[in-house]
Amino acid sequence: MAKGAATQVKSDNGWLKVWLDGKLVRYTTAKVPILTHSLQYGSGIFEGMRSYDAEKGVAIFRLNEHVKRFFNTAKVYSMDLHYTQDRISKAIIDTVRANNLRSCYIRPYAFYNTDQIGVSAYGKDVSVFIAAIPFGAYFGEGREKGISCKISSWHRINSEILPVEAKASGNYINSIIANTEARKAGYDEAILMSTNGMVAEGPGENLFLVKENALVTPDKSADILIGITRDSIIKIAEEVGIDVDEREVHKEELYTADEVFFTGTAAEVTPIVNIDGIKIGKGKPGPITKLLQEKYSEIVAGKNEVFENWLTYVK
Ligand SMILES: Cc1ncc(COP(=O)(O)O)c(C=O)c1O
Repeated sequence: MAKGAATQVKSDNGWLKVWLDGKLVRYTTAKVPILTHSLQYGSGIFEGMRSYDAEKGVAIFRLNEHVKRFFNTAKVYSMDLHYTQDRISKAIIDTVRANNLRSCYIRPYAFYNTDQIGVSAYGKDVSVFIAAIPFGAYFGEGREKGISCKISSWHRINSEILPVEAKASGNYINSIIANTEARKAGYDEAILMSTNGMVAEGPGENLFLVKENALVTPDKSADILIGITRDSIIKIAEEVGIDVDEREVHKEELYTADEVFFTGTAAEVTPIVNIDGIKIGKGKPGPITKLLQEKYSEIVAGKNEVFENWLTYVK
């Protein structure tokens, strides 16, 4: 194993299995050449979803929506995945099952399996892998206590330069530089502004504000990734009678909001209690954030009939 590699790829029973081009193989045997195109140029595409240890068994949250977004990203990049959406969905379920995983993070990934020098990828062979690893709270105790954020000096990529709604590896170098800047300055996470000067999102999270008991969230014009958790929170808010306004958000609105929180597959619902050293609301997770967090936990645990169809059980 390479130095610094994650240890989560080992379970009590040994190395986890990953799905690679149709076969489940041991993690350490799934290898790529160091000159792999997608490693050199960031040309891979991916998804991120979770399974939860729900009441009626292990369940993948919004599997269809994630697989659809994976195929849409491939389409934008003219990447031929050679598989149907049903086949990939089945492979995702098989990977979770083969590893006896309960609460885990699932990473489908497609990459150009060529070790050429040169950027042209058109028509090159594409490989697909699916990895699944045990996973808990992305921000650790921050999920309950709240986290601090720094408004990044880096702006979110815009859709004149790259397709922002596609989950391509290359996009994430923008996320990484913003996150690194924030972490170096002692914050937990970054918030990026759009190139139009409006609030966009976190490096891997969408953002919501609570203002006078209603939700406000940046709209598409801020070049955000349209998150599936974002969509879930909007639908949950509607269900519990909280208004949601999708619109442009000015930076100063963040500082004066009653509550601010992130959403994302990894982040789930994470309160933000401090931005640029300014206390948000009372400086602790607020009641609406907590309510939505609770509802979200209930849904992913299969304890909410209204949104039961968001779960795909791993049988
Ligand atoms: C840049 C970015 N924004 C937002 C999100 C949240 O999206 P989702 O809720 O679909 O995980 C993610 C995670 O995929 C992301 O990478």
